[in-house]
Amino acid sequence: MLKNDWFIMCSEVIGEFKSVTKRFGTIVALDGLSLKICRGINGLIGPNGVGKTTAIRLSLGLIKPSAGNAELFGFDCWNKSNDIRSKVGVLYEKFAFYDHLSGLEQLKLMTKLKGVSVSLVEIKELLKLVELDASAHNRRISGYSAGMRQRLGLAQALLGSPELVFLDEPTSNLDPLNRAKILELISFLNKEQDISFLISSHILSELEKICDNFILINKGKLLRQGTLEQMFDKSDITTFIVKVQPAESVEALLKNEEYVETLSIIDNSLHVAVRDAELFKRRLPLLISQAGASLDEMGIVKPDLEAVFKSAVEEVQKN
Ligand SMILES: Nc1ncnc2c1ncn2[C@@H]1O[C@H](COP(=O)(O)OP(=O)(O)OP(=O)(O)O)[C@@H](O)[C@H]1O
Ligand SMILES: [Mg+2]
Repeated sequence: MLKNDWFIMCSEVIGEFKSVTKRFGTIVALDGLSLKICRGINGLIGPNGVGKTTAIRLSLGLIKPSAGNAELFGFDCWNKSNDIRSKVGVLYEKFAFYDHLSGLEQLKLMTKLKGVSVSLVEIKELLKLVELDASAHNRRISGYSAGMRQRLGLAQALLGSPELVFLDEPTSNLDPLNRAKILELISFLNKEQDISFLISSHILSELEKICDNFILINKGKLLRQGTLEQMFDKSDITTFIVKVQPAESVEALLKNEEYVETLSIIDNSLHVAVRDAELFKRRLPLLISQAGASLDEMGIVKPDLEAVFKSAVEEVQKN
């Protein structure tokens, strides 16, 4: 089921895609995609190859939509890309540096190419902010580790005080500790400097912690958009933990129930993921009595973004 009528709790809409289609030859990368980018931290999620990077490149005016239009800050992304570029920063999925330059030289060069005025002191402050050691500033980028390159990429995206920063897989090369630090930094920049972000990532547990607005796309189309709560509300899979004795006899009966997705016994409790929570709640007393069992306790596990993602994508794949 496609949820087009999604109500978005956006404090301020700073970008919008209106039925954007992008074709590369016969490949349809975006297929009438409509979405809103909010002031704050936006998480762009979806399986591999569904158009996330294409949507980011289109927002930056690097590619022209085949149909529909995209706007950022009220400017058309294709026709007014120059007005947009001074307001945005980007960390590309596969970013390349001038490897023979030092980190400091790379940022000085990018300052010129971007046409922004950033002093040497400000560049060094940025490098400090992303925790790129002073000892690395004058070393060639070719000798940087993957994590150091990622940090330099983030510093580059922040050059010239952008209002909105696109981060395509910003933590993909980082170990868990460094990933956590980058996420903290993104939150800090949003709160303290009012910089908005659009982050594409497959690490949903991380996005869940920092994003205000989520955009879930599949095959170039919007599936769901909204706050974390709104994403959950529309989740069709609910997991219940049922403390029942004996759990095995109720489990055996639940196996035949059509709306049950997964079933397991953990620490003597039944963990039941169901597609229709109301029907499950109505049927459970009957099944417990049929099994001659007794109910001690029942609770709901709040689904995580991963579960929402899985059920939403599987649902359209079935149709
Ligand atoms: N320049 C291009 N030429 C041809 N096809 C392209 C081009 N760019 C993207 N595509 C195709 O468009 C579709 C969407 O690609 P895109 O890179 O936007 O996906 P994605 O959601 O970012 O995937 P991932 O999660 O793997 O990064 C894919 O089928 C891809 O092969
Ligand atoms: Mg991508």
